[in-house]
Amino acid sequence: MIGLAVIGAGYWGPNLVRNAQATPAIRLEYLCDLDLDRAKATLGRYSTVKATSSYEQVLDDPAVHAVAVATPAGTHFDLARAAIEAGKHVLVEKPLTPSYEEGVKLVEMAERAGVVLMCDHTFCYTPAVQRIRELVRSGEIGDIRFVDSVRINLGLVQPDVNVLWDLAPHDASILDFILPDDVTPVAVSAHGSDPIDAGRACVAYLTVWLSNGTLAHIHVNWLSPTKIRTTVIGGSRRTIVWDDVNPSQRLAVYDRGVDRAETLDERRQTLISYRLGDVLVPALPEREALRTMMAEFASAIAEQRPPLTDGRSGLRVLALLEAAVASMELGGARVEIKKTDDTAR
Ligand SMILES: NC(=O)c1ccc[n+]([C@@H]2O[C@H](COP(=O)([O-])OP(=O)(O)OC[C@H]3O[C@@H](n4cnc5c(N)ncnc54)[C@H](O)[C@@H]3O)[C@@H](O)[C@H]2O)c1
Repeated sequence: MIGLAVIGAGYWGPNLVRNAQATPAIRLEYLCDLDLDRAKATLGRYSTVKATSSYEQVLDDPAVHAVAVATPAGTHFDLARAAIEAGKHVLVEKPLTPSYEEGVKLVEMAERAGVVLMCDHTFCYTPAVQRIRELVRSGEIGDIRFVDSVRINLGLVQPDVNVLWDLAPHDASILDFILPDDVTPVAVSAHGSDPIDAGRACVAYLTVWLSNGTLAHIHVNWLSPTKIRTTVIGGSRRTIVWDDVNPSQRLAVYDRGVDRAETLDERRQTLISYRLGDVLVPALPEREALRTMMAEFASAIAEQRPPLTDGRSGLRVLALLEAAVASMELGGARVEIKKTDDTAR
């Protein structure tokens, strides 16, 4: 059994508590929050899990083998570093850290200490994204031709971060998770706007150049009256449409597309042909993403291997986001994305 402490009992922490308690390989030892009453209220009166406001107490307890950090991003580095120094495995909420530089330090510290460092890129554990990864990485859809992702709704205008930092980590982590190993984001151009004078961008568009010469586009927006969560992954053989707000057809795989053929005559004229084949709607299991994520954390610890969304995947996401922020400050100029040492996914 892996003894776990969840740090942070705000909006997201209780979801980790619930899923940790439903994971057979995990025994939840603590819920820690600076606000002790909030931690106690989350656990309820009859829970045997300890509530505390002392992180030191958590790290000093040998029954705790791992911590899950669900506090605001600005605290992730210090909390994760202290846990690694205490020899604990660490699960950190997205984004891994507020800066790439701090992320690198954490990844290196965890590798030296031989502990698991995982980033909760929740969407990567949804049945839909796991199936998309299989379809893309097995070659089923052919070569990637484009990715188009829209994540817009009437969102909470966050007090401390713009829409890019709030929503685009999801798209960046999904992109990182589904792309084949030989296709990576290399540069980005980002534009943002603040039409309500909120003091930070509420609408942002990111154009991402991929290493195979194609483009991915990400649109995030807090001001849309309707919720749209659609990602289209165009391939040379098939195209996947993922509509996350359509439970009866979340995924559809289209055998439709445009092909190019050259005629054999002397003019070698280029012909465009259209394929109008079937649409397949894969059956997806109903499974909570956080349950799968928590099970992956436990398995990675038990098997002493990097988890699917390890610290390095967190770093790749940070590299893309930082380049996007830099581009936005430069009025949308193309900015190269830092290469992390290990791009293996
Ligand atoms: N994976 C996802 O889809 C997802 C969704 C929402 C939030 N998140 C992430 O979860 C994290 C927390 O977000 P939230 O919305 O729950 O924040 P929140 O502000 O609602 O809650 C944070 C809690 O952490 C506590 N806290 C702060 N510093 C602490 C410290 N040093 N020690 C112990 N407790 C401390 C606060 O008292 C508060 O109760 C963020 O990193 C956020 O990006 C992830």
